[in-house]
Amino acid sequence: MPTQSQSPYLPFGENKTAPWYGKDILSVKQFTRDDLGYVFGVAHEMRGMVERVGTFDLLKGKILANLFYEPSTRTSSSFTAAMERLGGSVIPISEVKYSSVSKGESLPDTIRTLECYADVIVLRHPETGSAAIAAKAAKKPVINAGDGVGEHPTQALLDTFTIFEELGEGQIDGMTVTMLGDLKYGRTVHSLARLLSLYNVKINYVSPEILRMPQEVMDEVAAKGIPQAEYSTLAEVLPQTDVLYVTRVQKERFENPEDYEMVKGAYVIDPEIMKAAKQEMIVMHPLPRVGEISPEFDDDPRAAYFRQMEYGLYVRMALLAMVLGKA
Ligand code: NCD
Repeated sequence: MPTQSQSPYLPFGENKTAPWYGKDILSVKQFTRDDLGYVFGVAHEMRGMVERVGTFDLLKGKILANLFYEPSTRTSSSFTAAMERLGGSVIPISEVKYSSVSKGESLPDTIRTLECYADVIVLRHPETGSAAIAAKAAKKPVINAGDGVGEHPTQALLDTFTIFEELGEGQIDGMTVTMLGDLKYGRTVHSLARLLSLYNVKINYVSPEILRMPQEVMDEVAAKGIPQAEYSTLAEVLPQTDVLYVTRVQKERFENPEDYEMVKGAYVIDPEIMKAAKQEMIVMHPLPRVGEISPEFDDDPRAAYFRQMEYGLYVRMALLAMVLGKA
């Protein structure tokens, strides 16, 4: 592992001509396959640095405003950890009820406020398109940490990084990825399906009828020439699956609570079911899980969902360094 000064990814000075300097990260549609190679190169280097030195001063003096209008454990704390491991600091606003939002302040005004104090803003908000609205109001970079049922680009980046690190980047072409659960309201799968369409993968969607992948996403993926197929049961696709991506049924997004009751617990991954899967494959989940994966499966080497969280730290470190001109 090279030292910081020798690294092609981590220069000492702020590089205002770097391709991602000052950019917003709103959607996975912004990324090409080459861009991903670059992000993952930086993320890989971040992993090495964290393992060797823990914390280092790449973003010393920089401030992140972490603005969360919806609950979060992993996204919020991994962005905080990412900033602090890079020597920067964080303004955490996760209890918006204690901020001026509860006085009726608009999102653009809240964003304009925070950018007076911070160099970059991470935003999670319940409305689709909110990150784009925030980015329009802001001069500083805005990173979308989930906009309602829209997108969750940093999650899809860390998910793809996980696949590369776990199964080998060279193996991605030809892989079968099966997405399971709430494909309608799950923003992580909306972003992941779009991002994976940069590779020659085959995507299976397994969901209850009322939670099918939105047509809009399927059309975009189809336009890239990616084979896709929809199923209602897992058994028919599990044996061919290289990556099983499990999602939580998004209770908070249902208009009708009876619909939720009907589909919750539709699929549960456990050691018995996984006997039909390959030995060389991984099970992923953005987490939190609420019963879709039995804890009895956790010790199986194919259970990658806890490792996936750790990869998220490195990818978010990479993204922060990139938009702040330090990678
Ligand atoms: C996901 C989200 O918020 O969309 N969580 C996360 O960021 N890891 C998935 C979910 O809430 O089910």
